[in-house]
Amino acid sequence: MPSTLAPAHWTPDRIGDLRDRVALVTGGNSGIGLEAARVLTRHGARVLLAGRSQEKLDEAVATLRADQPTARLDTIVLDLGCLASIAETSARLADTETIDLLFNNAGVMNVPERRTTSDGFELTVGTNHLGHFALTAGLLPALRRAEAARVVTVSAIAATWRSGRLDDLMSLRRYGGMSAYAKSKRANVVFTQELSRRLAGTALRAVSVHPGSAVTNLQRHSEGVLSRAMIAVLRNVAMGSPEGAAWPSLYVATSPEVISGAFYGPAGRDQTSGTPKPVKLPRGADDPAEGARLWAESERLTGVTFAL
Ligand SMILES: NC(=O)c1ccc[n+]([C@@H]2O[C@H](COP(=O)([O-])OP(=O)(O)OC[C@H]3O[C@@H](n4cnc5c(N)ncnc54)[C@H](OP(=O)(O)O)[C@@H]3O)[C@@H](O)[C@H]2O)c1
Repeated sequence: MPSTLAPAHWTPDRIGDLRDRVALVTGGNSGIGLEAARVLTRHGARVLLAGRSQEKLDEAVATLRADQPTARLDTIVLDLGCLASIAETSARLADTETIDLLFNNAGVMNVPERRTTSDGFELTVGTNHLGHFALTAGLLPALRRAEAARVVTVSAIAATWRSGRLDDLMSLRRYGGMSAYAKSKRANVVFTQELSRRLAGTALRAVSVHPGSAVTNLQRHSEGVLSRAMIAVLRNVAMGSPEGAAWPSLYVATSPEVISGAFYGPAGRDQTSGTPKPVKLPRGADDPAEGARLWAESERLTGVTFAL
C-alpha cells in the first residue's frame, strides 16, 4: 500500500508527462482553477475549462495560450447552480469523453444575504456542494472510461469550523454568509469521504483538499467587511498566491502516493501555503453515518443518483 506522506518539497515541477490525460476544471476561468489549468496544460494535459460565461472562458483561454501557445484547451459553459445545465453537460461528455482528472473547484463565498440557485437551493451549498455532487454523478461514465481517474474536490479550512454543521443544510432556520460557506466546504469533505468508501475496490480515487489562502475573486462578497486596502495587506502578510493555492489540487491529482479519502492541504505555517501534505480531517467528517445522511439528502434534493 502506498504511503500517504507527501515528499518534503513537492512543487509542480515534479508533475510528469500528462499528455495522455484529460482534466476537467470547474471554475477554470479564475483564481485557483485557472492556475491549476495553467500547470496542467504546461505538462501536456488536455484541459476542459468549465465556467458559467463563455466570455470569461475565452479570456482565460487567451491568458493560458499566451503562456503556452500549444495548450490543448476546450471550454464548457456550465452553471453549477442549475441542475439542467449540469445534466446537459454531463450527458454530452459522458458519451464522448474520457476524463482522468475531475477538479470540483468552483465556488462562491460569503454571499451577504440568503439567495437561491435556479433550483431553489441555498446558493453557496447549492453551487459548492450540490452542483459538484450532481456533476460527479453525471460524469461517472466518463471517469470510469479512464484507467485510474481521480475526483479532486476543493474544500477549505472553513470545513473545520463549528458553524459548518450539516444540519439545516439549506440555511432555512438561520443564514450567515460564512456559515453557509463552512457548511458547503464541510459537505465537500464528507461527500469525498463517502464517495471514496463507495468507490472502494475500484481504480477511481476521490480526494479532498484545502488550498490554504489566496486573494482571488472569491473575496468579492467580503468587500465592505474586508476593505480593498485590508485585502491588499492580507495579500502581503498572510495570504499565498493563487499559483501556490493550486498546489494541493495538482498534487493529489497527479502524485502516485495519494490515498483515496484523505484530506490534503499546504504544510506551511498555519496551513496557508507551502508543500501539500495530508492534514487532519475536520472532526467527524469520516463518520460513515454523516456521510450516508449527506449522500441521501443530496440525492433527495437533486434527484440525481450515482450508478456505482
Ligand atoms: N482563495 C482562497 O483563499 C480559498 C481558500 C479556501 C478554499 N478556496 C476554494 O478554492 C476554490 C476556487 O476559489 P478561488 O479562490 O479560485 O475563487 P474565484 O477566483 O472566485 O474562482 C471561483 C470560480 O468558481 C466559479 N463559479 C462560481 N459560481 C459558479 C457557478 N454557479 N457555476 C459555475 N462556476 C461558478 C467562478 O465563476 P465566475 O468567474 O463566473 O464567478 C470562478 O470561476 C473554491 O472552491 C474555494 O472555496 C479558496
